[in-house]
Amino acid sequence: MPSVLPSGTPAPRLPGHIAIIMDGNGRWAQQRRRPRMIGHRAGARAVNRTIDFCLERGIAALTLFAFSSENWGRPQDEVDALMKLFLGALDREVDELHRRGVRVRFIGDRSRFAASIVQRMDKAEQRTAANATMTLSIAASYGGRQDIAMAARRLAEQVAAGTLRPDQVDEALLGQHVALADMPPPDLFIRTGGDTRISNFLLWQLAYTELWFTEVLWPDFDAAILQQALDDYAGRERRFGLTSAQIAAGKAAESALP
Ligand code: FPP
Repeated sequence: MPSVLPSGTPAPRLPGHIAIIMDGNGRWAQQRRRPRMIGHRAGARAVNRTIDFCLERGIAALTLFAFSSENWGRPQDEVDALMKLFLGALDREVDELHRRGVRVRFIGDRSRFAASIVQRMDKAEQRTAANATMTLSIAASYGGRQDIAMAARRLAEQVAAGTLRPDQVDEALLGQHVALADMPPPDLFIRTGGDTRISNFLLWQLAYTELWFTEVLWPDFDAAILQQALDDYAGRERRFGLTSAQIAAGKAAESALP
């Protein structure tokens, strides 16, 4: 994990890790007087376009919020149809992703998925584990609070077992137990669909992430919109709690960086 900007090094202008809340599938379908699932299917095509773009641009990590822990509360027929869509996408896309060097992983509570889906998730992860061109993380049955709570539980278990003292628990240690702990946190967060919320996505991991929102509905998301987000990101100054002068002098203190 990069913790210090070496003196004199300009901040990278291309985000290494992009995280996206893909919102607006339902409204996109509604605008066309079509069932919501038509919007989700169009959303799956936008996922493919986004992966293509990130691969072309050399983005190292892409994390997509596919299904939140709260989404289980949607009407059962929509949940069932989404599961079918995920299964189909897993069956169809993993070969191609593997061929292109994409490492696929899933974050979230997979115990709530049907065994057939979990099996395919495990298989996709194992098959692509050694790939290094890009890491694609799919957040499925994921919640940011749940993520932090599970990390706290793991540390509590170690304390109870006598292998960890309470005074050893700090940010760095908790941060090692949340999802995606083994990669740099997102540089750029994008949410489509017009709402300006984080909605329980990567709460811990987004602490210093640049946030970018667009009215565009997810099925309409394309290379031009993504380029707009990248251009905006490239113009921002990331200070990690420090001053502009300190950043310019390359004095980003290790403690202030994610
Ligand atoms: C939010 O739109 C979208 C979802 C809850 C599902 C996301 C799923 C996809 C983009 C499809 C394919 C994904 C993969 C990884 C294959 P919404 O339904 O909340 O839209 P609304 O706010 O307009 O109702």
